[in-house]
Amino acid sequence: MSRAVSEPAAGTTRAPSFEALLARPGLAWMGQNTTHLEPPPEVVEALLDSTRRHEFQFYAPPLGFAELRELIVADLGLAGAAAMITDGAVGGLHHICTALSPRLTRLISTDPGWPWPGRFAELAGVPVTAVQVYSPETGYKLSAGALAQVIEPGALLYLIDPLNPLGSSYSRDELEAIVALARANDVIIVHDCTYRHFADGHTLVAELYPEATLTTYSFSKWLGLAGLRLGAIVARPELLAEFSRTPSNPLGANIAAQRAAVAGLKVKDSWLPRLRQANRRNQQIVAEAVERSALGRVLVRPSHGNFLYVPVSDGVALNDLLLRQGIVVRAYPEAIRVTVLDPVDDDAFVETLARLFDRPSPVAAAGGRSVRVRTHRTMSAMGHSAMQAAVTTITGSVNHAWLMAKSWSPWAMPPAAAITGDPSTSHDRRP
Ligand SMILES: Cc1ncc(COP(=O)(O)O)c(C=O)c1O
Repeated sequence: MSRAVSEPAAGTTRAPSFEALLARPGLAWMGQNTTHLEPPPEVVEALLDSTRRHEFQFYAPPLGFAELRELIVADLGLAGAAAMITDGAVGGLHHICTALSPRLTRLISTDPGWPWPGRFAELAGVPVTAVQVYSPETGYKLSAGALAQVIEPGALLYLIDPLNPLGSSYSRDELEAIVALARANDVIIVHDCTYRHFADGHTLVAELYPEATLTTYSFSKWLGLAGLRLGAIVARPELLAEFSRTPSNPLGANIAAQRAAVAGLKVKDSWLPRLRQANRRNQQIVAEAVERSALGRVLVRPSHGNFLYVPVSDGVALNDLLLRQGIVVRAYPEAIRVTVLDPVDDDAFVETLARLFDRPSPVAAAGGRSVRVRTHRTMSAMGHSAMQAAVTTITGSVNHAWLMAKSWSPWAMPPAAAITGDPSTSHDRRP
């Protein structure tokens, strides 16, 4: 039931490079779980202000600004914990894996999951076990029973919650059972909370197991600062000291990003409800489109992240089809993962899926406006830019032309009919 993570990664072999995609204007960017909504104005102003003051000419404090560190701990509600700022959550994960590797017996992760911490550990010579969690019986997440089969003293458990790419999340009871095993085996838990802000009723492992939990935090998703590279490690001070004594970036993380993050945390009480509402609504729009097409279903619904996992017979072929229509998703051999949340992108996806599978256009079927009107409300609620709001007035036929204009390939489109939803609950054929 478990295997190492060093097997070939899923990928889109025929897809253009990431850099080439970035250079294409107007792509619907639904492959990276980043948030492209108009950010809170306070965040943009903080960035501009930092730039105007030429703060980029300075290093930041090695562990990050004290105010930011306190705001992160307060956001998590972890009294008595401390934070150190890292270059994205991934910077913190890399630091944890490399700093701990000399005394780790094993890294335990999940499959599917986010592969990088496993790769960091492997590079440092630590064996890695990825436990299969692709099962409806366990709710598409790691069960204590499955963990019990592989856990060993001195291991590190890398627990992603909500789980990228499936969208599942752990209940308090499930985490308590996992923690009991970890405690009995002297296992450190890294709780990767990158998508926590999208989840319903999220529990922090650090509340149950404060003495040996490292919580990793990201600003890429909920605040949309992916390109600024900012995250944190949060833990009890005595545990954090092991990592903060020699930070992996002692010259400090991006100074302007830290100003933006402080501004974002100060307005999170108004930003988060709007973000979460838009996420739920747009998840529904995309999931309904999937259900109307031949693809059939979203695996975990509602997803606790800002993405939906759709099992299909050929994810790479479907990704190719979508790319030709100006839509980027994350492809796996037997699935695609679609990042929702940007109303314009979601709308383009919905329309394209209908056309690929020869279904009536949701825009035209609703008098040319339905999807646009629904997303227009979302955009207004989010304070979306005037330019994007103007797009909402176009009709279904114009929308169709707009989608065609976004196509990046002159090739004729191969039929989508060969691609079906995959009702299989076994993931054995997935690399
Ligand atoms: C589970 C998980 N952890 C960490 C990261 C990296 O986050 P950051 O952008 O803060 O480095 C990602 C990014 O996709 C992720 O999916």
